[in-house]
Amino acid sequence: MNSNLPTPLRLAQLPTPMEYLPLPSARLGVRILVKRDDLTGGITSGNKVRKLEYSLSVAKTEGCQVIISCGATQTNHGRALAALCAQLNMKCHLFLLGDESDKDRGNHLLIRILGARIEYIKLDEYANRHELMTRAQEEYAQEKQKSFIIPTGASDGLGSLGYMMAVLEIAEQSQAMGEKIDHIVVAVGSGGTMAGLFAGTTEFQQKWRLHGITVCDNADYFRLESQKIFEDIRSHFLPHLELDANDMEFVDGFKGRGYGRSDGALRKRLVALARECGLVLDPVYTMKAWRGLEALVERQVIRPGETVVFIHTGGTNGLLGHGPHFRMEDLET
Ligand SMILES: Cc1ncc(COP(=O)(O)O)c(C=O)c1O
Repeated sequence: MNSNLPTPLRLAQLPTPMEYLPLPSARLGVRILVKRDDLTGGITSGNKVRKLEYSLSVAKTEGCQVIISCGATQTNHGRALAALCAQLNMKCHLFLLGDESDKDRGNHLLIRILGARIEYIKLDEYANRHELMTRAQEEYAQEKQKSFIIPTGASDGLGSLGYMMAVLEIAEQSQAMGEKIDHIVVAVGSGGTMAGLFAGTTEFQQKWRLHGITVCDNADYFRLESQKIFEDIRSHFLPHLELDANDMEFVDGFKGRGYGRSDGALRKRLVALARECGLVLDPVYTMKAWRGLEALVERQVIRPGETVVFIHTGGTNGLLGHGPHFRMEDLET
């Protein structure tokens, strides 16, 4: 391992538990373990904390007082970042796609409670978010404040290191549990978690197959994005790492009505799974990934008796933000 790697801040509660799910395993005929990254810690919980341990470490080392980032109004990333900035006594400035309409719910409410500066933007502005964030950075510089830009979902080479290192945690944990992992399934929203896991799987020579279930865009888009992240990892931290995004397994077909949107069937299955085993997923990321897992079993990509780790990347606050979408009939089984 190369010593160019930044030392992460210790912000997440690690290792997160890895639990066997007996009832869904029996129903599907495979062995399902859930990696509880929804429990990385309090209000910051979810997959973003592992990434932000690296991004914020570099920001701190560079002496930055302000962190600039972006997301939708129910962004899990923005909420985790707002909480960590408050914890680290840094200012947080978020460009949020959308408006005030869901400001009293879920992540949006938490972001406001945590005191982040919010600028609402429209879809066409979101496409130019990097320019907007760079302009904000210049304005802070004029006020003699040093700022640091973290891209959507902290999905650059730096943030992805969090999930590269999570591979070691999963490998050690499965060894201690006497489990041999055949597959890992994870949601893909901006690509950083999957890219980091793929980098770690290669770097630490794990034999499992990694399946990324896309919840927006598509596999071709994420292969391009992942290749950029790999170049970033290689050029800054691990020059020896040979990664080809064409070797990654992205699975399309589960975004349903589109990013951030759910239908009655998905919500009903979310409710059924929660009642079956107490695992509460969210309608934007993790429930769509779970549907992907079930389909991989149906297609026998994950074969009977094999062991699969489902990474629960969080989203509970986002679920609460989507509360009004849950109708009476979704809750009736
Ligand atoms: C709950 C949750 N799960 C999964 C993801 C996807 O992770 P990534 O953006 O690294 O692809 C995100 C963020 O986008 C998320 O908030």
